[in-house]
Amino acid sequence: MKNIIFLLLISWLFFSCSATSPEDLVDDEPITASVTYNDDISPIVESQCLSCHNDNFMSGGNSYSSYVQFRDAVENGEVINRITRPVGDPEKMPQGGQLPDSSINLIIQWQADGYLEN
Ligand code: HEC
Repeated sequence: MKNIIFLLLISWLFFSCSATSPEDLVDDEPITASVTYNDDISPIVESQCLSCHNDNFMSGGNSYSSYVQFRDAVENGEVINRITRPVGDPEKMPQGGQLPDSSINLIIQWQADGYLEN
């Protein structure tokens, strides 16, 4: 009887140690995914900019309805200049609002990665 209890104890210890630990659930893959227009940038532009910057209603003369239009505006510095202005600056974009830091960082990263489309 003692042996059985001992065996059960040993097997319990064995299984409890080999059970999935939180570390095992974390994906160890390095983050290699690049920021792309289709996956990351276009959703930001659509939700935050397009209402005022589309082909029919071009605030400041600018439409950001396509990859090329938005890429050119980031490339010439206008977009990053406007989205990184201090809160309360009348030229800050989106007008009357503010992008979350995570979105600003994505746009900066997208530029650094070379404006990948997809
Ligand atoms: C509520 C409307 C509105 C939204 C939303 C908006 N803008 Fe604007 N934007 C304007 C207006 C109006 C102007 C022109 C006045 C000015 O230059 O500040 C402008 C001008 C700009 C300019 C300057 C263009 C130039 O040639 O000088 C840039 C760059 C810009 N917006 C980028 C953005 C970006 C990027 C977003 C989204 C993150 C955005 N805007 C969202 C209304 C808006």
